[in-house]
Amino acid sequence: MLSTTLGPLSLHNPVLSASGTFGSGWEGRQFSDLGRVGGLVSKTVTCKPRPGNPPPRIVETPSGMLNSIGLENKGVDYFVAETLPRMRQIAADGRAAHGAAPRLVINIGGESIDEFVQLAARFSAEGVDALEVNLSCPNVQEGKLLFSTDPRLTEAAVRAVKKVATVPVFAKLSPNVTDVVSIAKAAEQGGADGVTAINTLIGMKIDWRKGRPVIARGIGGLSGPAIRPVAVRMVYEIARAVRIPILAAGGARSAEDVLEFVCAGASAVEIGTAMFTDPALMVTIVDDLTRLLTAHRTSIAALRGTAQAGQDARAAAPACKPAEATR
Ligand code: SIN
Repeated sequence: MLSTTLGPLSLHNPVLSASGTFGSGWEGRQFSDLGRVGGLVSKTVTCKPRPGNPPPRIVETPSGMLNSIGLENKGVDYFVAETLPRMRQIAADGRAAHGAAPRLVINIGGESIDEFVQLAARFSAEGVDALEVNLSCPNVQEGKLLFSTDPRLTEAAVRAVKKVATVPVFAKLSPNVTDVVSIAKAAEQGGADGVTAINTLIGMKIDWRKGRPVIARGIGGLSGPAIRPVAVRMVYEIARAVRIPILAAGGARSAEDVLEFVCAGASAVEIGTAMFTDPALMVTIVDDLTRLLTAHRTSIAALRGTAQAGQDARAAAPACKPAEATR
């Protein structure tokens, strides 16, 4: 009922953490049984350590949050030595307790295609379950990480990663584009096994008393429920245009939200900003999904993309029968 697939990757349920909102899961494991979630997506890992952007770099906004972390992380060597074993421990505990483990998805960020390739080769050798290629972080000065604002760069980066990756590759897309569908198609053309849609929307909050932005870098990425309708629309549009699966991200905070994304065409959904206030939320959502799907006698597989079919049927049918219209 809850099981799903993301291309070659099977998941025991469609609920994953969103990159950058739950670390590696290690600290979060005290709040809930992470063996029960479908997957854990790491914070972006880069080749070299990055100090990130100066503070303040997070601020609350109406129904959301702006962040400009700047991909702070200790680099791939530290991650492989210290963090990955912890993620593996969470998966092993899940397997021992439930016979199923959360999938371990490593989010990678490069300043060049060569760096993406290095990271993809390294994590493939480590035998992680999948890679999420962060082509879309809006918070880096170099601007080089915004591969996903250009279809040619997206395709080139994905193609290069796919040449060395031996695990499924998901391209994380930016919503800060005019035509997200063309970028998703470029990722598919490059050989991506799926896309993650969407990263954050670029935004700004200004403290008028101080006359300057609250976030030190000025702009940041908006996440949370405020962006969910945008994310749902983009997932819906992408699903109509590509054959590869979609991992949705963007403001989901309940089982109902997850099902909304699934109806739009997603195969699985990342939970992010809402976990800052409730770090046990993923497991609550898994429980609520079980209740909802049981009550409605349906499944994730049966619901996937149903909004597409419904829309097609509505488009094909006349809005109302002529005889009724005149009554
Ligand atoms: C950040 O570290 O600034 C956020 C990561 C992202 O949006 O991809």
